[in-house]
Parts: sequence; C-alpha cells; structure tokens
Amino acid sequence: MTALHEGSPPAQPLSAQSLPAQPPVLHMTDIVKRFGSVEVLHGVHLEVRAGEVHALLGENGAGKSTLMKILAGVQPATSGELRLNGEPVRFRSVADAAHHGVRMLFQELSLAPDLSAEENLYLGDMSPLVSDRELREQAAAHLRSLGLDLPLGVPVRTLSVGERQMLAIARALVGEPRVLVFDEPTAPLTAPEIEKLFEFIAQIRGRGVAVVYISHHLGEVFRIADRVTVLRDGQNIATSDVANTTQQQIIEWMVGRHVEVQSRVQPVSGDPVWQIEARPVGASPLHLELRAGEVVGLVGIVGSGRGAALRSLVGIGGESLWNGQPVRSLEEALRRGIGILPEDRKTEGAVLDGTIRENIALSSLPEVSRAGVIQSGAEGRLAQDWIARLHIRPAQAEYLTGALSGGNQQKVVLGRVLAAQPKVLILEEPTRGVDIGAREEIYEVIAGLAAAGLPIILSSGDAQEVLGLAGRILVFRGGEVVSELHAPVTLEEVIAHVTGARTH
Ligand SMILES: Nc1ncnc2c1ncn2[C@@H]1O[C@H](COP(=O)(O)OP(=O)(O)OP(=O)(O)O)[C@@H](O)[C@H]1O
Ligand SMILES: [Mg+2]
Repeated sequence: MTALHEGSPPAQPLSAQSLPAQPPVLHMTDIVKRFGSVEVLHGVHLEVRAGEVHALLGENGAGKSTLMKILAGVQPATSGELRLNGEPVRFRSVADAAHHGVRMLFQELSLAPDLSAEENLYLGDMSPLVSDRELREQAAAHLRSLGLDLPLGVPVRTLSVGERQMLAIARALVGEPRVLVFDEPTAPLTAPEIEKLFEFIAQIRGRGVAVVYISHHLGEVFRIADRVTVLRDGQNIATSDVANTTQQQIIEWMVGRHVEVQSRVQPVSGDPVWQIEARPVGASPLHLELRAGEVVGLVGIVGSGRGAALRSLVGIGGESLWNGQPVRSLEEALRRGIGILPEDRKTEGAVLDGTIRENIALSSLPEVSRAGVIQSGAEGRLAQDWIARLHIRPAQAEYLTGALSGGNQQKVVLGRVLAAQPKVLILEEPTRGVDIGAREEIYEVIAGLAAAGLPIILSSGDAQEVLGLAGRILVFRGGEVVSELHAPVTLEEVIAHVTGARTH
C-alpha cells in the first residue's frame, strides 16, 4: 500500500501476509528541526512497528540522520512529538535514549579511537567497579554470542575500518534494545560482513525490535526491509510496503525525477604516460601502465590485496615507483601530483570543524596563496567552483563541513582532491554514502576528468560502479591480480572473477 503524504500522517493499511498487525513501538509526529534560522525538517512523521525493518530513504541532505539523531537523544527537536510504546518521551542524551532501549549506529564511526574494543562496547554503561578482567570477559562473551572475532585489549584505531564498524554494530546490540537505528551501516563493510549484519538484523527483528535502516543501496532495502519511508528536503514524500513498490518508484520519490543509469566508459589510445610499480608489504608487487584519460578499475573483496596494493601506491604499507620515481609516503605522493581520495573520510579526509572553503583549499595552498599569504578571495572562488561542479548542498562556502550531511561531506573531500589538480588520480570508494542522483553526477565529473586526459585508478567494492567507468578492470584475489578484464564486460562476469567462480 502506497500513501503519499499531504501534510498529515497517512493511514498505512498493510496486507495481512506482509506483517502481523503490530502496534507501533515508535511514533514521531510533526517533527520540526531548525539549526539557527535554517529549518531542515518541516514536520516529519515516522511510525515503526515491533518486528519491522523500516527503511528510511532520501537524497543526501534530505534529513534522515537529523531525524534519527533526534530519536537517539543526540539533539532535541525544535518541536514535535516522540512516543515510545504510546508514551511521550524526550531524550536528553544518547545515554538517556539507550536507557530507554533506543540505540543508534551512527553514520560516522563514533568509537573512541584510543580505547580498546571492550571499553568502547560498554562506554558509559559500565559501573566503575567492574575490573578490567571482568570487562574483557563480558565483551568476549558478547562478541562470541554474535559470532564476531575482534581483537580485544588494543586501541580500536589499530582495527580495520570494517572491524571498527562491526564493533560499533556490536555496541548497538548491547542489552535489549527496543528500537535500533542503523545509519548507512554497510558503507565500510565487506560482502561477508554485510551478510553477518543482515543475519543480526533478521535475529533482532525476530525478537520484536523495531529497526530503522538508512541506506543509499536499494538492493539492501529490497532484501531486508518491510516498509520504506522516503524523505525529500525535510518532508515526507511516501511510505509504502516494500513488496508493493519498485526500485524505480523509490528513486523517483527520492529524486523527484527519472534517473538514467548509464555506462561512461570511453575509448583511450596512445602510449602509457605512467609506468607504475606497487610494492605492498607482504603481498605481490603489481605493475600497472596508465594511458592519458584511462580509467582502470580495481575490484576484489577485502583480503584480496586490492586495498594493500592501492595503499602502497601512495606509500602506505609499502612503496611504489611512478615512472621510476619512488613514493614512500603520502606526502611524497601528493608532491608528485598523485591525488588520492581516501576510503575513510572521517580520519583521513575532511577536517570536520573547518568550513567547506577551508577544506577544499587545503591541498591547493600554492594555488590560492600569494607570497605565502593565503588569499581568502581566491580560496572562496575555488570553493564556489567545486561546490557548483559537485552540487554540494548547501552551496555556501562558509558552511561548516561537520554540519553537512554525510554524502555532502564526501563531496567536499572529493572537491579538495580535485581542486589540487592532480596529474593522476586514485579514487577509493568515491561514492560511499552518496545518494543515487549525486552518484551519477560524480560519475559525470570523473568521466569528464578522464575525457580531459587525466589517468584515473578507481578502486571500489561496488562492481557496478567500476563497470560504468573503467575500460580495464583488474581483479584481485589472494593477494594478487588474477585477471584483467576489458570493456564491454557484464556485471555477472566481474562478480564471477571476483569470487573465483571464473578464473579466465
Ligand atoms: N549540526 C548542524 N548544523 C547545521 N545544519 C545541519 C546540522 N546537521 C545537519 N544539518 C543540515 O540538515 C540537513 C539534513 O542533513 P542530514 O544529515 O539529516 O541529511 P541525510 O538525509 O542524513 O543525508 P546523507 O544521506 O547525506 O547522510 C542538511 O542540509 C545538513 O546540512
Ligand atoms: Mg545522513
């Protein structure tokens, strides 16, 4: 049943077989949120039932995280009502919400990097009387019950991004939650980790927990969600049973227009302009040639060697030679004109407390400074240029990057890399957290740079993304490149090579 909202909360009858008639655990009514004079939620409604996975969808900046942060006690609503099991509630803090059984996995990793996994799991929940040993045993038991094997007793910054995210998920599952919110949980996860997460979600749903699931991946939504609510510009657009809608319909609700998904592979010719030799520590060396304007895609699951090879290209966890010149550190890579968009935007990417202007100008200091003095007018122009090219919203150079929606932060980091006018570009998961409409816009920018002659290495866990841009695809498995595929190639072929179902 599809219901288009017109100001008031719609009736949402359900077909009998799709869900048993469960009372709503969570009722958010007429939620308004203003930041200063800017209103970002204009009276939003959301109702989630026990044992339901409710997908909350919308473009970057639609207001999904803001709405859920109100629920989770991060920030108060300007006005509106929140009911839990029919009781009006207003949470003063994340701990207060957690105490009432409302837990949220945040879009940005929110672990304390210098604390251990066990300390992070029970941060704020533990009596100071618990000994380190008891804490570790309790953590080990909790992780075991989830079938997770994560290192204890070491600072979590030493864990991989995926491990940190699994730890954050485990933290959300501490105790007996009644409402669980997952804000783009799969972005940093590998395929097997995603399967594990889906198992957890199926289990907690079976226990009657109300689950809100935010994602830009409609495939995930169709796999695990019962209902979907779409927001656009801080307003409800539709709520529907997933079984009664289609991906195309949801995209149209989100974007307000038809989005064409297309291939942008362009033919390249000429001699290679880059001879590259990557030497990752503990993995096979990789020789790579790049032509002007060529987009080479790297695919492979985590542990396949894709990430290690990529990192050694910029002197992390190994070293590399670019046309015979050594690159032993990230600084050296940047000095040689190698631009890199890193995988983890929070720790390696955006300076969240700087403005969009400051972030975009960060790698381009020579460009915007005269006699060593930064020209803020030049910075502003550079920032405005990239804000327009990447459709960063809001389009205000003085906006704080930390106050942008997740997808827009990703665009700022990309803008910063591109503003430095690299001679060769390495993109790692370039559209992580970016909505469907904006993803196509970013692909357009990448294809435009390639058409202008920039050689690009594109590494992504999203095979479809690689397929749409790269003329040549290197498949990693077991620490080395096992096949080289050339466009046109089908998604099924790429996946068959990635998984090892096909080897030639
Ligand atoms: N602390 C803040 N101060 C000012 N504006 C904010 C703040 N937090 C969010 N906003 C604004 O509110 C709007 C909604 O942002 P929100 O993070 O909820 O979007 P989202 O739907 O989660 O998007 P994404 O898919 O990119 O994560 C955006 O315009 C954002 O810039
Ligand atoms: Mg968000």
